[in-house]
Amino acid sequence: MNSPKVVTIGLGYIGLPTSALIAQNGIPVHGVDINQHVVDTVNAGKIHIVEPELDEAVAKAVESGYFKADTKPVAADTYLVVVPTPFKGDHEPDISYVQAATEGIIPLLKEGDLFIIESTSPVGTTEKMMTLIFSKRPNLEGKISLAYCPERVLPGNVMYELIHNDRVIGGVDEQSTLKAMAFYRQFVSGELHPTNARTAEMCKLTENSSRDVQIAFANELSIICDKAGINVWELIRLANKHPRVNILQPGCGVGGHCIAVDPYFIVAEYPLESRIIGKAREINNHKAFWCAEKIRESRQAFQLKHNRNPKIALMGLAFKPNIDDLREAPAKYIVQRVLQDAQDEEYYIVEPNIHEHQVFKLTDYRRAAEVADIIVYLVAHKEFKGLVVSENQLVLDFCGVTNS
Ligand SMILES: NC(=O)c1ccc[n+]([C@@H]2O[C@H](COP(=O)([O-])OP(=O)(O)OC[C@H]3O[C@@H](n4cnc5c(N)ncnc54)[C@H](O)[C@@H]3O)[C@@H](O)[C@H]2O)c1
Repeated sequence: MNSPKVVTIGLGYIGLPTSALIAQNGIPVHGVDINQHVVDTVNAGKIHIVEPELDEAVAKAVESGYFKADTKPVAADTYLVVVPTPFKGDHEPDISYVQAATEGIIPLLKEGDLFIIESTSPVGTTEKMMTLIFSKRPNLEGKISLAYCPERVLPGNVMYELIHNDRVIGGVDEQSTLKAMAFYRQFVSGELHPTNARTAEMCKLTENSSRDVQIAFANELSIICDKAGINVWELIRLANKHPRVNILQPGCGVGGHCIAVDPYFIVAEYPLESRIIGKAREINNHKAFWCAEKIRESRQAFQLKHNRNPKIALMGLAFKPNIDDLREAPAKYIVQRVLQDAQDEEYYIVEPNIHEHQVFKLTDYRRAAEVADIIVYLVAHKEFKGLVVSENQLVLDFCGVTNS
């Protein structure tokens, strides 16, 4: 391979497609991952994650000789950090992966290099990494460029969005911003928006917090409407006829690795100031708890009326419709919670996008809907729309399957 111009650190859902795209543009990429299986899979021209068109992109990039994976970084001109940023026990952001990735490349840095963080990060992370780098290599101060550039692709459409989405690019100084913009211009056709590193970091957190707050509004409405005897789906449809109102749809909570996580990065740092953002997280978490309580109440009412335990179909585990991703999924939490007080009634757990689960015994959605006394829609998967339900079956629809 040509000597690498770019080193990407982290070959997951974001780092791998980004690496393939850069390599496809004729820029040699050395992709680094601490997971040997990932490295071996990529070097064989294959992929370890599910993402349309990624297999072809990686196969071509590896075959062309422009993309190679390794467990260790090598010297390059540009370093791209795309490692996980989860939260710790108390919802505190964990930037230890970003720090480990940065430490790994400090010995390789030279004058003129560009260092970019793409991992979703708390405000100030890029500056922290700059301080770390200069504490170990003080002679590089003012001689390298450092920037933050968040990723906002939609899983399932990553190969398209990586190229076409607008990007926000924030350097620690103007020269860093310009250098990072020139880097992305090589393979991004969306608009590039310059700013500083702290604003770019906050921009990513703001985007997902905005979604969380708006969903919390819909979820709060759904609980109010339940008490008031109003169909929330009809209510939202009607309210949205207002030319300047656009309320989102309620669900059984909020999940996934972005919207349910990123707002905590703001709350942890600015707890007194982030009152709506913190409250939205509480409301969305509470919605899942509320749904579990509704199931419990319906079960008790059935027992009293029929003198036996009901069969209950729990429809969906994923964090949103038509995917197989269960990360932070409120439906999974609800299922775990209601199973805690399972007696001899039978629960049928359904997730049409997964064949087998390590913990839950899964049932085909048609069979579950046929035999259940209570059908609980937790996720609006397309398979559930149009299922025929008899008069004797009670339906708890937390996600609008029967109302869309
Ligand atoms: N997946 C998304 O849709 C998405 C969207 C926007 C932003 N992000 C952000 O992008 C970042 C990466 O997310 P992802 O979904 O690609 O994660 P991922 O878990 O799919 O991949 C991360 C990879 O990094 C590797 N890794 C961990 N520590 C490492 C180290 N020190 N050196 C080398 N490799 C290391 C892991 O083995 C893993 O393969 C996160 O901050 C995430 O919040 C993700």
